[in-house]
Amino acid sequence: MSNETKKIKNRYNRISKIYDVLEGPMEAMTMSTWREKLITSIEGDQVLEVGVGTGKNLLLYPEKLEITGIDFSEKMLEKAIQKTKGKENITLIEMDAQNMSFADNTFDTVVTSCVFCSVPDPVKGLKEIRRVCKPNGKIVMLEHMRSHHTIIGKFMDMANFFPLYTWGANINRETISNILKAGFKEEEIETQDLWSDIVKLIEIRNKK
Ligand SMILES: C[S@@+](CC[C@H](N)C(=O)[O-])C[C@H]1O[C@@H](n2cnc3c(N)ncnc32)[C@H](O)[C@@H]1O
Repeated sequence: MSNETKKIKNRYNRISKIYDVLEGPMEAMTMSTWREKLITSIEGDQVLEVGVGTGKNLLLYPEKLEITGIDFSEKMLEKAIQKTKGKENITLIEMDAQNMSFADNTFDTVVTSCVFCSVPDPVKGLKEIRRVCKPNGKIVMLEHMRSHHTIIGKFMDMANFFPLYTWGANINRETISNILKAGFKEEEIETQDLWSDIVKLIEIRNKK
């Protein structure tokens, strides 16, 4: 594990105790509606959620789906394990998204929410998602990213140090361009703006 990866993982471990409280207002305002939208985009029954965090999406999945969730922060994962006690269709594993131990073409759908702001090498993580998702499978992502409005984008660059050093998330990632760098083609990607051009629902058909 690289030093950068250890650093971000440790920041999530540090914030894990108060993470749900910090995110509470955002969750109550809009996030919970966006999460429901994300879950309805799933296809098939073998689902991988990358970066489950404290497990906010986990109770929204229909019980007929087989859910595997990974996170590299053991402390965030502990919270997710507590939330999902007794759910036999959910398996949670400590694992780095940049180096997953799953075989190629394992999952029908791969889900992420607010994860690619934090993965230290996002292109590497997205390549791994492309590898473990089946051919013609789906990748559904609820992600925030850098705005392309000049002033807002510059402000996000200047303010980025704060979320990065407090809990490990960047607010100025170029996530769509990272998805393209990971090998997905433009015609495989559909995006929907949920909040200005900053929060997007991204659906990718994994043509391989
Ligand atoms: C902002 S939190 C979002 C958590 C959750 N997805 C949600 O919607 O509430 C980002 C999560 O991604 C995890 N993460 C970041 N990089 C990762 C990586 N390389 N491998 C696995 N998990 C990662 C962090 O540990 C953290 O739990």
